[in-house]
Amino acid sequence: MAIRLPLRCLLLTLTLAFTGAALAVPAEGTRIMISAPSNYAVEAGKAIANKGGNLVDVAVAVGLALTVTNPSNASLGGGGFALVSMGQGVDVLDFRESAPAATSPGFYLDREKGASWNGGAAVGVPGVAAGYWALHQKYGKLKWTELFDSALRLAREGIEFTGTESRYSETQKDRFNSAGLRHFYKTPERHYEPGDVLQQPALAQALEKLRDQNLAGFYRGAVARDIADTVQANGGVITTADLAAYEVRWLEPLQTEFKGHQLYSMPPPSSGGAVIKAAFELFERVDIEQYPPLSVDEIHLMAEVLNRAFRGRALLGDPDYHENPFDRILSAGYLDEMARSIDLARATQLAPLVDKAPDDSTETTQFSILDADGNAITLTITLNGSYGSGVVSEKFGISLNNEMDDFTTRPGEPNAFGLVQGYGNRVQPGKRPLSSMSPTLIAKDGKIVMSLGAAGGPRIISSVIQTIYRVLVTGLDIDRAVQFPRVHHQFLPNKLYMDEYKFSPEVVAGLQQRGHETVEQRPGYLGRIKAVRLNDKNYLEAAYDNRSEGAVGGF
Ligand code: GLY
Repeated sequence: MAIRLPLRCLLLTLTLAFTGAALAVPAEGTRIMISAPSNYAVEAGKAIANKGGNLVDVAVAVGLALTVTNPSNASLGGGGFALVSMGQGVDVLDFRESAPAATSPGFYLDREKGASWNGGAAVGVPGVAAGYWALHQKYGKLKWTELFDSALRLAREGIEFTGTESRYSETQKDRFNSAGLRHFYKTPERHYEPGDVLQQPALAQALEKLRDQNLAGFYRGAVARDIADTVQANGGVITTADLAAYEVRWLEPLQTEFKGHQLYSMPPPSSGGAVIKAAFELFERVDIEQYPPLSVDEIHLMAEVLNRAFRGRALLGDPDYHENPFDRILSAGYLDEMARSIDLARATQLAPLVDKAPDDSTETTQFSILDADGNAITLTITLNGSYGSGVVSEKFGISLNNEMDDFTTRPGEPNAFGLVQGYGNRVQPGKRPLSSMSPTLIAKDGKIVMSLGAAGGPRIISSVIQTIYRVLVTGLDIDRAVQFPRVHHQFLPNKLYMDEYKFSPEVVAGLQQRGHETVEQRPGYLGRIKAVRLNDKNYLEAAYDNRSEGAVGGF
């Protein structure tokens, strides 16, 4: 395929990629565009595209590079979700961490508080390696072994640590196990500063095993033993049998029609798709479009819709273990009732469907890729907290998640964030914890025209909703839509979170007068989007949120 790229786009893309500056207009291409947290990963993807790889080959190379560049949140020790479209329909891949066989609903009651957050007992069985393998098995074109070159080079030769990664590692000093300090600190006392080069030769060996032995290279043998031994030495219960038994799941997306577009979103064990669906159904019912963007009326309605869309979230859980009550919380009758409960003049709060709403951490990684043929992937990976459990595998330097904290770990008691989760999300062996990750694809006339997702715990969901809204309703290009001021409401606590300094004092005062308890938040809190869109001129436009680090690139 001929490569056509306007010079200004090339210059813009290169400048942005190397400076990490916030975008002012979207980067454009005509063949394939990538939005990801790291320029190393974008370049890894472009190398595979240049080699003749298809979009899934590109995605796997991007993901593998991120295991090296973003050890705090995208390592092989985490899990995630992807929505992928390669010509026919939309597939959903669930490669989230699962609870080890030795866990139970009361698992954390017998342990000290914080055990689901710090140390080996917090670690779920990782799914990232199985996820990339499954994507490649189903859709890959190049050989699996060809996709590892960039990741291996980055691990061996080193990466320049970014400011964010440096800060994430600095804050782990008292949390890391000894292997964490060995693999991710220059000396036991000194973390890597921004710009310092981090080499990961041990991780390179694990990646080689995954490359040469496929799944067995990670889920059996030396790497699996290293993970199980390290977890057990740090108070956890993952065994090599847990790792050998890990399997991904293919699921069906949730679908919503909105303004002539089909929204494909993530079903449980994510709560994202259900909340997104409810929000867009409510937008239509309250006719929010008639109010000017950023007016008090519009933001008030946005907040009230998010509040109600999140209300049903706490009733959700892993579909293999829990019957999700969609016939209740997504039914026309329930949504009509929710719309009727919204008052334009004042903020109102309904009774909870269960005690309290769940909450999540924010250290998550998203990348989005779209090509001119409408092939697309949106993939979100997380370790939950920054560096997950703080436990890093001894031999191979793989940082391990603390995804177990996304379960209802102490029924009836607040979790690490001071909140209580629902019964359907209690810990059970093999089960996957409820998530907010919301990779989303949008089609028009049967072709995917947008691929997006975010990092940011529950704010993922509200940031994805508002970015889509700003494109489809406000009519913005992808960059302006991503950077646009955002709010977040998750039903409980009953607070309206707002981007700090992005709303006028008059709007904030107007919302307070209607009864909202406003909380202004630092950049990044309100979600961090990575998005690619096919615009009306048939250009692929890509953007990353200037609330976080990121890079875009393509052809
Ligand atoms: N661990 C964050 C989430 O899955 O939503």
